[in-house]
Amino acid sequence: MTDSITIVDNRTGESREIPIENGGVAASEWQKLLPGIWFYDPGFTSTAECSSSITYLDGDNGVLRYRGYPIEQLAEKSNYLEVSYLLINGDLPTSAQFSEWEHEITHHTFIHENMRKRFLEGFHYDAHPMGILVSAVAALSTFYLDAKDIFNEESRSKQVIRLIAKMPTLAAAAHRFSVGMPFVYPDNNLKFAANFLSMMWKTGEFRLEPDPVLTRALDLLFILHADHEQNCSTTAMRVVGSSHADPYSACAAACAALYGPRHGGANEAVIRMLTSIGSIDNVDAFVKEVKEGHGRLQGFGHRVYKNYDPRAKIIKRAADDVFKITGKNPLLDVALKLEEVALNDEYFISRKLYPNVDFYSGLIYQAMGFPLEMFPVLFAIPRTSGWLAHWLEMLGQDAKIARPRQLYIGTEPRDYIAMEERK
Ligand code: ACO
Repeated sequence: MTDSITIVDNRTGESREIPIENGGVAASEWQKLLPGIWFYDPGFTSTAECSSSITYLDGDNGVLRYRGYPIEQLAEKSNYLEVSYLLINGDLPTSAQFSEWEHEITHHTFIHENMRKRFLEGFHYDAHPMGILVSAVAALSTFYLDAKDIFNEESRSKQVIRLIAKMPTLAAAAHRFSVGMPFVYPDNNLKFAANFLSMMWKTGEFRLEPDPVLTRALDLLFILHADHEQNCSTTAMRVVGSSHADPYSACAAACAALYGPRHGGANEAVIRMLTSIGSIDNVDAFVKEVKEGHGRLQGFGHRVYKNYDPRAKIIKRAADDVFKITGKNPLLDVALKLEEVALNDEYFISRKLYPNVDFYSGLIYQAMGFPLEMFPVLFAIPRTSGWLAHWLEMLGQDAKIARPRQLYIGTEPRDYIAMEERK
C-alpha cells in the first residue's frame, strides 16, 4: 500500500497520483491536473491552511499538546508565562531564560499615557470591554511604528513582549472604564496573573495581594486558553498577518474574531443559558427544546473535538478549588445536571457533542467576580501568545498572502440599464 491518492479527470481520462504527507494532500498537485477546479469547503472544515509545529490536537481522542507537551502536564506543573515562552520559542525555558522572559514581560506592562487618558476615555460610558480591547490593540500599532518592520527579528521580539505584557493592562483598563472606576497602574512586584487581578479589583488599598488560590486558578485558565491551533481567531491572525500587516493590527483582527458568540463569547452564552434554565427541574424541558431545533446547548460541541474536551476536564476539577474560596456558583448544579442529561441522550451521543472548554470556565469567572462582558477579554489575554506564535511561524514559513477562491453562482453577464428605464 502506498501513502497516496490518485485522482482521475473523467472528462479526459487523465490521472495524477498525489502523495499523502503529514496527513494531507497538496492542493497545488491537484491544480496540476485540474486547473480552475476549486475545492469547495465553506468554513474550511476539510482544509489545512498551513503546516504548524505549535499545537497538536486529536479531536477524536481528546488529546491536546503544546509543542509536544500534554496539556494535563502543563496545567499541573507549569505557569502561563512559561507556557507563553514555550509557544513562542518552541522549547521550555531554562531558569535563566525564564527569568529574563518574566522580567521583560513584567517591564512592558505599562501603556502610553495617551492611550489611557485620551484614547480609552473617548469611549461611550457603557462600551463593551471587548469592543474597547479590539480597538485598543489596533491603536497600539500607532504607538509603536517600529512594529511595521516585521522582517527585523529584534523588532518582532519586542512587539511580542509588548503585546503579551500589555494585554492584561488593556483588559483591566477596559473593565475599569466600563464601570466608571479609575485606572490602576501595573504593579511590577506581582506575577502576571496576580498583577492582572490587582489592576482589575484594586480600590483604596495601598497594594492588593490577590488570593493565591484564585490567582493560580486564573493562571491555569490562561494556560488552557493559550493556543488551540487553527481556530477562527488564530486563522484571522494568520490571514491578516499574511498581508504583512503589523502584529498589532493582525492581533486586533484576531481579537475581533474572538468577540463572536460562536468562539470567545461562548462561555458568556453558557452563563446566560444556565441562568435562563434557572433550576435543575427545568433541564429536561430545555434539552427537549434544543433537540427540537430551538437553539443550541451552549458550551457543547466543537468543530474538532468529537470527545470530551481535555481542557473542560481540567477546568471542572479547578472549579472545586475556586468555589472553596468564593462559595459555590449557584449555577453549578444546573450545569452538572445539564451535562449528565446531555451525555446520556442519543441526540448528543450520536452527534458526538461533549462539553467544551467554555462549559465550565464561565462559572469560575463569574464566581471570581468577573462580569459576563469580560469573558471574551479574559480569553484574549492568554490567546495572544498563541496568536503571536502562529504569526511568527507564518512569517518564518514565508507564507503566501491568504487569498482563497470562490465558486461564482451569480447572474450571467448583463448590460447596465439607466435608472429611469429600470422596472
Ligand atoms: N447544541 C445542540 N446541537 C448541536 C450543538 C449544540 N451545542 N452543536 C452542534 N449541534 C448539532 C447541529 O445542530 C448539527 O446537527 P444536525 O446534524 O442534525 O444538523 C450537528 O450537531 C453538527 O453541528 P455543526 O454546526 O455542523 O458543527 P460545527 O462543527 O460546525 O460547530 C460549534 C461547532 C460551532 C462549536 C457548535 O458545536 C456550537 O455552536 N456549539 C455551541 C457554541 C459553543 O460552545 N462554542 C464554543 C466552541 S469552543 C471555542 O471556541 C473556544
